[in-house]
Amino acid sequence: MNSRAVVQLQNAGVKLGSATVLTGIDLRIAPGERVALLGSNGSGKSTLLRLLQGLLPLASGQVHRDPNSRLAMLFQRPHLLRISALNNVTLGIWLDRSLGLSWRQARERAVQALQRVGLTAVAQQGGRQLSGGQQQRLALARAWARQPDVLLLDEPTASLDPYAKREVENLIAEFAQGEALTLIWASHNLGQVKRLASRVIYLEAGRVLADLPVDVFFNASALAEHSPQAHAFVQGEIS
Ligand SMILES: Nc1ncnc2c1ncn2[C@@H]1O[C@H](COP(=O)(O)OP(=O)(O)OP(=O)(O)O)[C@@H](O)[C@H]1O
Ligand SMILES: [Mg+2]
Repeated sequence: MNSRAVVQLQNAGVKLGSATVLTGIDLRIAPGERVALLGSNGSGKSTLLRLLQGLLPLASGQVHRDPNSRLAMLFQRPHLLRISALNNVTLGIWLDRSLGLSWRQARERAVQALQRVGLTAVAQQGGRQLSGGQQQRLALARAWARQPDVLLLDEPTASLDPYAKREVENLIAEFAQGEALTLIWASHNLGQVKRLASRVIYLEAGRVLADLPVDVFFNASALAEHSPQAHAFVQGEIS
């Protein structure tokens, strides 16, 4: 494992309103890792992603982000504008001033990104008029086109039909394979986690109860030894 961390949390805690949502999180993520966040509803996965992306302040502890790493986040429901698919991506690229691209350059890159996710045919259609699967691919294109070092995804396939799920998952796998991309994503889909993750983090009530290589996590007896709670969760999801 590379000794450089793209992002690191030390004893991190987050409060939302009066509620303590994350507690004592210690996490170090190296370049190229594919980290799945698992845990039941309300366990803190989205909050952790938002914290990593820099969208939430810390109540305690520390966060370090590699200043040379670009982060892009994909929300569970894509935030698309009422403009064409192509302009949604172009704008996303153009607004990222760290890229320093002109509108024309941004547009060229957006055209390539749409091609990469198979949306060239609908480039001129309104972004919000696309199907759920297409919208998710569009949002993915917009994130990928910024050439992030770290891609944070919040249940990227949750609301999709089985076919679209697989399509979006395959795209994520391609992105993660071809480039030195660090992937951190929340998922309720154990099959997807098995297929894509190199490491699995299990959260319960805002705490990390297991942080293991994927093969150890999915070895029932090993997991039971590391974390009975994570083991019970996985058994519950399978049965
Ligand atoms: N704005 C807020 N104010 C107070 N509490 C909040 C706020 N947003 C989220 N929470 C609480 O924080 C906890 C963690 O929420 P979070 O959305 O991170 O969970 P999650 O693991 O992503 O759940 P899910 O699987 O349902 O997406 C929940 O108990 C939730 O009620
Ligand atoms: Mg969530």
